Amino acid sequence: MYDKPRAPLTFRSLTVQSPVGLEAPQNGLVGPIHFSTTYTRDEKYAYASEYVYGRADNLTLRQTESFIATLENAHAAMLFGSGMSAAMAVILAFDRPAHVIASSEMYYGLRRWFAGIGRFGHSIEFVDTTDLAAFQSAITRRRPDLVWIETPSNPLWKITDIAAVSRMSHEVDAVVCVDSTVATPVFTRPIDHGADIVMHSATKYLNGHSDVSAGVLAAGRPSALWHQIAMMRAEQGVSLGALEAWLLARGMRTLDIRVRTQAKTAMRLAERLQTHPAVSAVLYPGLPDHPGHEIAARQMTGGFSGMLSVRMKGGASAALGAAANVSLWKCATSLGGVESLIEHRASMEGHGPYCPDDLLRLSVGIEDPEDLYADLDRAFQSTPIAGPDDELAPGDLSKGVRA
Ligand SMILES: Cc1ncc(COP(=O)(O)O)c(C=O)c1O
Repeated sequence: MYDKPRAPLTFRSLTVQSPVGLEAPQNGLVGPIHFSTTYTRDEKYAYASEYVYGRADNLTLRQTESFIATLENAHAAMLFGSGMSAAMAVILAFDRPAHVIASSEMYYGLRRWFAGIGRFGHSIEFVDTTDLAAFQSAITRRRPDLVWIETPSNPLWKITDIAAVSRMSHEVDAVVCVDSTVATPVFTRPIDHGADIVMHSATKYLNGHSDVSAGVLAAGRPSALWHQIAMMRAEQGVSLGALEAWLLARGMRTLDIRVRTQAKTAMRLAERLQTHPAVSAVLYPGLPDHPGHEIAARQMTGGFSGMLSVRMKGGASAALGAAANVSLWKCATSLGGVESLIEHRASMEGHGPYCPDDLLRLSVGIEDPEDLYADLDRAFQSTPIAGPDDELAPGDLSKGVRA
């Protein structure tokens, strides 16, 4: 298990203690990966430890989970094969029909899945959780069992007040789950703000190198729901594999330094892009004119994340032309890796109120900020590309699974 440091450490020093090593008897700085799917009994027909079978028990997995729990100030954490499977586990663990209220603006893949939870006997209502009056009226109208919020939300980076939503939700006995993928524990620890469960697509910042698909849940305290999630995960075998858990632990050693660098560069780019002649708006919670800036400044300590979006004066065709013509930035989906990514988001999720078709989503990496700005500046002068209309159709689900 992950050994907590003896002296209290700053968050930055703590991340470097990510448990990839220091294992007896050799005390190698980088330890082994535990691959065994089964464990032998001794002559008394007893096991040497609590580990019995790999579908439920794996030391490497447990080490990484207990490290994430420490970073999130949580009681425990559970790793899954993706962010989506972590999120689904929360809903599917309800053993009675549950009413769910979720942020209307959130990662579109999860919103789409939430929209169909009626087939499991649950019900869903999407509410603008940045509007506390609208949220209060929704939970008064119908008491939810679960409140799901994402902050900052993808791809407009709106900010929900975790403490206020948690307080209001707990008055009606609802469980509060926060998708904190973009904030990361470097900037926000939702449990400290009153949330019950934190979820991450660990594919993104936690791993940070675009080479592991993973998801995690961390809970503030034990509960019947948490126990149910653990049982379901062990029975279904949807835990993260040992190799991925080890890679994730390795990636997290640089979490603090990566994410702070990314947020600092994102802030610089956001400020400069505000006056770029090709840009009509910059969406970034670090900017004082962002509608959620005040809450973000309170809730996110030390930075506003490495994610921002820009809206192009020339519309969808200008956005497509720019995204296709970057050089240092890579034109790809996903976020949170060390390499900067740009994406015309409406080509992925279809345009609509939560994704204007002139929007480019930027995931800022750790490259030099001057190089990143120069590459964008050059790409923003590219010839516009007309996007095929069907690419931009709202709610088009025919393109299969996308990030
Ligand atoms: C905010 C957010 N939550 C959840 C997910 C889903 O995570 P995964 O792709 O690891 O399943 C994503 C993926 O893009 C995301 O951006």
